[in-house]
Amino acid sequence: MQFLKLSFLVAVLSTTLIVIGQDESKETVQDRLQPFGNICMQGEDCGTVAPITVSVSRSGVEVYNAHCFACHATGVSEAPLVGAEEWQTRLDEKGAETLLANTKTGFNVVMPPMGTCINCTDTELQAAIDYLIYGE
Ligand code: HEC
Repeated sequence: MQFLKLSFLVAVLSTTLIVIGQDESKETVQDRLQPFGNICMQGEDCGTVAPITVSVSRSGVEVYNAHCFACHATGVSEAPLVGAEEWQTRLDEKGAETLLANTKTGFNVVMPPMGTCINCTDTELQAAIDYLIYGE
């Protein structure tokens, strides 16, 4: 009888310890899985935290000066000049999307793909096109 009581006690105690042990390890693992810091990227809902801007977009005039200037400031191969009236005609006839698409793929052999700005984003190319069309 004494032996039975003792083994019952041991059984209860060890079960309790196992349950407590599991709870602890669960919390510890959850703690360890928490990210060290939270980064809120641009475009995400960041609450009151300001988003991190991953890359700074170059302005239209910056892209133009670095890549488009050589032809569109000189009119070589009849490249339309900055602010030329001809731009409005192209815009009206083709639409902004086609002008961007033609800038990306290149146009009529004489206009090189991406206007030579190989790492330009669509936003940067569009800004450069806007600069070409409207000037400053
Ligand atoms: C090597 C010379 C050259 C460079 C560099 C160049 N262009 Fe051009 N681009 C041209 C020429 C020439 C045309 C006229 C093509 C035609 O209409 O036959 C043209 C036409 C265009 C057009 C009109 C396309 C259409 O569908 O009518 C756009 C928009 C344009 N360029 C944007 C750019 C941008 C933006 C850059 C710089 C990122 C750039 N170009 C760099 C030569 C160049």
